Amino acid sequence: MLMRRLVVSLEIVTALVATGGAWADDTSRTDMLSDGWTFRREGETAERSVSVPHDWGIESGFLKAGACPAQGDLPFVGKGFYRRAFDGFTPPPGGRTYLTLDGVQCRSVVKLNGKTVGGRPFGYASETIDVTDALKDSGNVLEVEAKNVPASSRWYPGSGIFRDVTVRVCPPDHVKPNTLFIRTIEANEKFARVAVSFEWRGGVSNFTFAVENPRLWSPESPALYDLELFGEKFRYGIRTAVFDPQKGFFLNGVHRQMKGVCLHHDLGPIGAAFDRDFARRQLALLKEMGCDAIRTSHNPPAAALLDLCDEMGLMVMDEAFDMWEIRKGDYSVFWKDWHARDLAEFVRRDRSHPSVVMWSIGNELIELDDNPPTRPIRIATELTAIVKANDTTRPVTFASWKSAPMWNGCQNTVDAFGANYLPFKYAEFSKRNPNVGLVATETSSCVSSRGEYFFPVVASPITGEGDLKRRSDEGCTHMVRGGQMSGYDLWGPHPNDYPPDVEFEHQERNPQVYGEFVWTGFDYLGEPDPCFMSGGRSSYFGIFDLAGIPKDRYWLYKSHWRPDEPTAHILPHWTWPGREGEATPVHVYTSGAEAELFINGVSQGRKRRGEYEYRFVWNDVRYEPGEVRVKTWRDGKEWAEDVVKTAFEPVRVERSERRFGRITFVTFALKDKNGTVCPNADRLLAFETRPGTRLVSLCNGDAASRENFKGSSMHTFHGLLVAAVEGPAEGLVLSPSAASICGSTEN
Ligand code: GAL
Repeated sequence: MLMRRLVVSLEIVTALVATGGAWADDTSRTDMLSDGWTFRREGETAERSVSVPHDWGIESGFLKAGACPAQGDLPFVGKGFYRRAFDGFTPPPGGRTYLTLDGVQCRSVVKLNGKTVGGRPFGYASETIDVTDALKDSGNVLEVEAKNVPASSRWYPGSGIFRDVTVRVCPPDHVKPNTLFIRTIEANEKFARVAVSFEWRGGVSNFTFAVENPRLWSPESPALYDLELFGEKFRYGIRTAVFDPQKGFFLNGVHRQMKGVCLHHDLGPIGAAFDRDFARRQLALLKEMGCDAIRTSHNPPAAALLDLCDEMGLMVMDEAFDMWEIRKGDYSVFWKDWHARDLAEFVRRDRSHPSVVMWSIGNELIELDDNPPTRPIRIATELTAIVKANDTTRPVTFASWKSAPMWNGCQNTVDAFGANYLPFKYAEFSKRNPNVGLVATETSSCVSSRGEYFFPVVASPITGEGDLKRRSDEGCTHMVRGGQMSGYDLWGPHPNDYPPDVEFEHQERNPQVYGEFVWTGFDYLGEPDPCFMSGGRSSYFGIFDLAGIPKDRYWLYKSHWRPDEPTAHILPHWTWPGREGEATPVHVYTSGAEAELFINGVSQGRKRRGEYEYRFVWNDVRYEPGEVRVKTWRDGKEWAEDVVKTAFEPVRVERSERRFGRITFVTFALKDKNGTVCPNADRLLAFETRPGTRLVSLCNGDAASRENFKGSSMHTFHGLLVAAVEGPAEGLVLSPSAASICGSTEN
């Protein structure tokens, strides 16, 4: 990453000199208000200390199964009250103090010294309040109230002040909040021109400046620069993004299709409280798979997530809403009064991020069913105009799972049609709509539980038409058993879902499509579709499970998205006592062109990849204990290998660590005497911490588990479990009783 100081235009410098603005020692200062808060829930008398971001819904474990499975069966409903001293933020004479709450879930009321100064009904909205006039000399008290209601989102929303709170204290000359826009006008490797506009007390300033030999921002090289205005630094990136409905998407002049995933806002076992290091880990894992884009399904993300995307190199489809006027959650109640303001502020907050390449004004709006489509056309036209009033540099889309809006006029209200699960329509869409772009806002919706495989293996029928009905009972038995999903990556819960391979083909056949966003990158809390009433509490759609452990699908995406990385991966696991002699299909995900499978050294045949084939399948393999090995080749040369062995009893717990910022993620694996992970012998692991080490969360990725993420013990799931630890990781140890379960201590 390159950070470079810029000499800013003459116009600004002149303006500052003219107003006598002080640059050096009197610049804006921003503080994060993380600590020092007290909190209580309605009905509680005692306040307790909390730090912010905070999510009260995740603190105390699960409700009884079926209480609100769509929201994760977690106790997020109710009212909460936060309080904090607010001294030390008096601005210099003539200056201003701004308080930003980046997200309060939801229906917030913000008071300073007893006076209401702000509040937002929409939990995902970011709010900046000028609190200058409510400040006293001392003894200032900030209070924030939040109230969450049942089914406020279709997934787990979290509750309370779940995103950053910051205070910016400014001298008289400063960039007014939500007015800055830094954008690239033109850029190539030799020269770039950047435009800047913002408001300050001197009015509106607009200027451009040139950068010679710029480092262009891209996922592969996320170069960033700093622009200094009134002594305060603002980050930006230089890049061009051209969206051509017929030719496709070009970043910095080079054609590409986004290899994206949809991401919900929660971070698994810590719930919705935004945490940079948990988010950093998610993004890093996605990038390692070859993912280069995310869609913030289906709401404004934490501002800090976009900072991470800028730094780490992920393109973003920034999405505003999951509903318009018709109810899908709480916000429709407030739509009439708030949507215009919320949307405009969202665009103004996010428009200077180089990572943001598209805006989405909504997902699967029920209005899109209208026939005639007068209402969705009216709403989409208005929303697109609001976005354009604040940014004309990025295309606007909405996501539809119905195909009617591809033809009935709705498609003309946006720059790009967002297709959810409609790959069979891409070619026809672009032919009939030569001036409207196309992006696959949601794809596949494949479900799986890490380590679960059901027999016989049956592939889902593919209907090719948007239809949100549930699968038939027969379809469900191939896919779901006992609250788990088969891991052969062949089924989704609705007839319009399809395996990832189908989307790969249609993306390849249709290079004009701007890219795909897989439903979803990670399992998320809530929406345990189709196990709402059979024990599920988190989703099964993720390429990674809720603990951040890759499911088999990870290697399918990696093989396709990083074709030059030698990858070979076998599924299923090979520990099937009782299945001896029975057909046990083996699938292999590889970036190789040829593959040969061996069971205990005996070849099951060598296969060559056909056109639009993305996995190798041996359906007739009979199970016998021992080992499955795959060898692969590319261009006639050996490429990558994988081997899976039958596991014996677990004899030890092995730990491996990966650190992101202040958090170390420790994976514990139950292993047999040969070092093979034991997929069928789960154990309860109990932990102890030494002084200085804090166990932040435990998660095993089992979507039907009711074990508390905040407890100190948990079962492994198919042999694995992840602990997140703050402080020295070696301070987290298995308790002697847990260690002895496996007959030895961890190593
Ligand atoms: C889509 C929807 C997503 C999620 C998904 C599950 O239709 O946009 O939010 O619900 O279905 O399959």
